[in-house]
Amino acid sequence: MLVRTMKDSDLDQVRNVGQKAWSDVASTELGRKVKYPFRPRKIIRGYLWKEPKGCLVIEEAGEVIASAHCHVWGRVGWFGPFEVLPEMQGRGVGKALLCGCEEYLIRAGCVHIGLETMPYIMKNVHFYLRAGYRPQEFTCIMKKDIIRIQESPNGVERVEEAGLREVLPEISELCRSYNADLDLSRDVEMAVREDLGALFVSHSGQKLAGFAVLHAFHPIEESDHSAVRLLLVNPDLSDKADHFDRLILSVENHSYRLDRRRIFARFVVSPPLYENMLKRQYALEGSNMRMIRGPGYCEREGFIMAAWAG
Ligand SMILES: CC(C)(COP(=O)(O)OP(=O)(O)OC[C@H]1O[C@@H](n2cnc3c(N)ncnc32)[C@H](O)[C@@H]1OP(=O)(O)O)[C@@H](O)C(=O)NCCC(=O)NCCS
Repeated sequence: MLVRTMKDSDLDQVRNVGQKAWSDVASTELGRKVKYPFRPRKIIRGYLWKEPKGCLVIEEAGEVIASAHCHVWGRVGWFGPFEVLPEMQGRGVGKALLCGCEEYLIRAGCVHIGLETMPYIMKNVHFYLRAGYRPQEFTCIMKKDIIRIQESPNGVERVEEAGLREVLPEISELCRSYNADLDLSRDVEMAVREDLGALFVSHSGQKLAGFAVLHAFHPIEESDHSAVRLLLVNPDLSDKADHFDRLILSVENHSYRLDRRRIFARFVVSPPLYENMLKRQYALEGSNMRMIRGPGYCEREGFIMAAWAG
């Protein structure tokens, strides 16, 4: 089974694989036929820009039958979306694709390799357990309806493309202060350069105190939601909770301005962060499990939101 790098011309077939795979999952779950939406072209193009050799497909008889996207976040690597056409499942296609992802991530220097999946789908759990992945943390998906603009917080700026050169090295440094193996800067760059959303930063004196990336790439006529893709505050600051507060308010206001009245946030469950989000009127929408291969990487401490979801 040949795993190859994805090309721009594969895009529609890749969207087809995703739509069919998730329609099948949802239909099985709900016991009736469900048609899942197609993934927006914009995000797939973003991944192709960010990780041109880490977007993989498997082809059979000239048709794309499976696809996956790898993400290198420093020495932390994850993959997703990861999908096989329903009629091609159970024949080792997923296993071949998984090997392709692991090969790419290892070659890119990742020592922690993982994914997020639904813990109640036994096939997925079995598939990853057999490949050496172990359940590590629970993530939650929370949602808030944004009904009005809130008072704009002080000290937060939006950074556009021209400002990236200065801020990206600071973002790398901040990530490493959270965990020496983590670097989210390439994902931040993708969001700004590929126009997937917006980047906000908060400073403490001259130093970067935190940043947040809002994704809002679905065509508005298809969906009115946005999502916090990334958020991190320097864990050493005594006023870290204030920086978190300002960053969250900034992304919520931005979402409102873009007419996206539902915002999603996905993060590893830590009781203080969960409580904090409940107080902000976020409600629990779902929960996933992170499975990891490697020496162990966790995001249970501090103010961090890093969605392992494609
Ligand atoms: C999860 C997925 C990628 C697996 O791909 P696949 O091509 O079916 O995987 P493979 O054929 O290589 O391996 C499937 C394994 O699951 C097992 N399996 C199949 N049906 C199963 C079931 N109902 N319960 C438990 N295990 C099952 C197979 O026996 C095989 O295990 P084995 O190697 O021990 O025999 C595929 O099912 C898929 O695309 N699902 C929909 C999207 C999705 O959930 N993606 C993953 C998101 S994290």
